[in-house]
Amino acid sequence: MSAARDALIAAAREACRKAHAPYSGIHVGAAIRSVAGATYCGTNVENAAYPLGNCAEMSAIAAGVAAEGGNFEIAETAVWAVDREDHAIAVSPCGGCRQRIREFAVDGGVLVHFPWRSAGVRTASVDELLPYAFELPQTRTP
Ligand code: THU
Repeated sequence: MSAARDALIAAAREACRKAHAPYSGIHVGAAIRSVAGATYCGTNVENAAYPLGNCAEMSAIAAGVAAEGGNFEIAETAVWAVDREDHAIAVSPCGGCRQRIREFAVDGGVLVHFPWRSAGVRTASVDELLPYAFELPQTRTP
């Protein structure tokens, strides 16, 4: 347990209260600490045209890029989710968001914290969540 981890989880928890998730009832918040030391939050934003919805991680990444531009790099991430009755529920980044986090992670060791069933909060590195991540040939490390 670290104070940085706890602060990030608290920020994700706070963010999920603002989610727009009237269709699924799953209110997700994400908090990202950048290498520059700022924290960016995002929520899922659903749409009546269901496929147009955004994940919370995607919204937090967009906030980081908007603030830091090309220098934005992820140092640590947390997600949290509650149901319609405000009860915490298990959630981990979806496959697409694992790829999105990987794109901006400073390295594969970046930690992602998420609420997981009876385990409470679980922590996994980006490389554990997304082994053999897709990279373009020109950016790949041999
Ligand atoms: N959701 C996220 O915000 N992040 C994830 O990584 C998984 C799923 C959202 C999308 C949708 O609004 C709701 O959870 C139910 O799928």
